[in-house]
Amino acid sequence: MLKNLSKNAKQYQRHLQSTISIRKTRFDAQYTERHYTHATLISHFLTALSITFPQGERFFVETVRNVRDQIENPRLQADISGFIGQEAHHAQAHEQFNQAVQSPHYNLMHYNAAFEKEMKRLRTLTQRRQLAATVALEHFTALMAGYMLKYPEFMFKGLSPNMKQLWLWHAIEEIEHKHVAFEVYQTIFNHLPQRRRSMRTITIGFISSTTFMTADLLWQDRKNSLYSPQQLFKNIKALYGLGLMMLRLSPEYFAFYRADFHPEQLDQQELLEQGRQLLNPS
Ligand SMILES: [Fe+2]
Ligand SMILES: [Fe+2]
Repeated sequence: MLKNLSKNAKQYQRHLQSTISIRKTRFDAQYTERHYTHATLISHFLTALSITFPQGERFFVETVRNVRDQIENPRLQADISGFIGQEAHHAQAHEQFNQAVQSPHYNLMHYNAAFEKEMKRLRTLTQRRQLAATVALEHFTALMAGYMLKYPEFMFKGLSPNMKQLWLWHAIEEIEHKHVAFEVYQTIFNHLPQRRRSMRTITIGFISSTTFMTADLLWQDRKNSLYSPQQLFKNIKALYGLGLMMLRLSPEYFAFYRADFHPEQLDQQELLEQGRQLLNPS
């Protein structure tokens, strides 16, 4: 009887435990450089994503917290804690990165006011719409993260060990918590038309803003990125690579619109293991 009780307690404990671990990154912002990848276009692209992270990821956390008290499943509650911890660290690390790379001739901060305005507008929406926006954006971050881990030679070529601690670390954790916002949304709202609508709106906003900011950073850095024939050649190849990435990711992107979609349908455990090995080689 006692043995059974302790077995049940252990099973319950396992049920409560989240698979999401919160790590502290070893990324150090003081060793940040403007160009940290093989082709400068990829640096500008990643930096454009980084601009959105501090405010964006804090918003994700808020939208999940808004409805957290309605979640009864202890496992999902534990995952929410993991999700909040991971995103809080990401926002902080990217804020440090953005400040370190910022200069009068490479201005990232001029986007902050526009983002603040957009976040303010999003916060006026219903909790369902706010969370649906998070779910859609989390799908995008998981898509990007999966691609980074699957094709590290494209996205991470030339990355220093320090910069790996930022980008690889973030990519791994995005995949680890990719199901959390989605499951919270399904548990509380389970509203398919809203999920699809938000994804359509977010797609337009995400692609246009990322393209615009990447092009702007590229232009600000034109002396290194466009006027150097060697870099120009690498960047043309990288542009083709980004196009190929969109093409390769399209089946995973469109899967989101399916009624029976769940982020865990795409098993990325092997990819995660490879990523962890790359981050902390034993
Ligand atoms: Fe994140
Ligand atoms: Fe995330």
